[in-house]
Amino acid sequence: MANKIKVGLICGSGLGETLHKTFNCSSKTSRENAENDFGYPSSDLYHGCIDGVNIVLLARHGAGHVFSPTGVNYRANIEALRLAGCTHILASTACGSLTESISRGQLVVPDSFIDRTNSRKGTFYDGTSAKYSGVCHMPMEPAFDPRTSEILLQAAKKLGYNIKKGGTVVTIEGPRFSSKAESNALRLWGGHLVNMTICPEVFLAKEAGLLYAAVAMATDYDCWKESEDNVHAADVLVVFRQNVDKITNVLLEAVKIIGCGDWEQDILKLNDLIESSNVTAKK
Ligand code: ADE
Repeated sequence: MANKIKVGLICGSGLGETLHKTFNCSSKTSRENAENDFGYPSSDLYHGCIDGVNIVLLARHGAGHVFSPTGVNYRANIEALRLAGCTHILASTACGSLTESISRGQLVVPDSFIDRTNSRKGTFYDGTSAKYSGVCHMPMEPAFDPRTSEILLQAAKKLGYNIKKGGTVVTIEGPRFSSKAESNALRLWGGHLVNMTICPEVFLAKEAGLLYAAVAMATDYDCWKESEDNVHAADVLVVFRQNVDKITNVLLEAVKIIGCGDWEQDILKLNDLIESSNVTAKK
């Protein structure tokens, strides 16, 4: 089974442009050739290998950061990675911190989400593709794959990084940041982080049968904290770039650990869940 493992890496703001060079990706599939039932993925797919584990890299916002969080074709991205043979997805994301206990540069592996988006396609099961027929009500606990999430934590600890286990990420529609009143409301709801992209990615991956986990980096305090500067896009990128090596190293290490495991049962279990969650009678 181990040699069938393939890890898709979805790289967020500040990371997608360079990672294929860092990871020595030897070949690529153009966006055009990766077109699927849901359209074109955000970027070309770069194929590589880390310690014998195959990887596929995708830049979430496209080459040159051309797609806004609303404009990203999340379905085409996930489907392109599935069709490329991925069994897992590791995603990186820059986030605002909604809590005192998460400071700038802190790594977090989230374990739940609150979806505050309103203009995105949130399911594969809408009749677009014959592969996804019927009506499928996927459970969202656990939202992120626990075993893959644990590996991200293990990887970071092995590297000596401070990383926080668990946390709720609120995904807002964007592209604007939250108002102060909104930021405080998200805190009251129990959000620990705020970003613009984890939803619908995390639940589309689950519908597609891919084991998905994310490593988040806090880049700012949004605008709720009196003693801190309010979030600004330029500062998000600066803080992310200052800490980008940490994310790259965690991904690299996590891929190696994933490659050492036997995932057959996890994949079968997720596929059973997808099938049993589909309520449409089989013809
Ligand atoms: N990404 C990074 N910081 C953010 C914030 N404060 N709100 C939404 N998305 C973000």
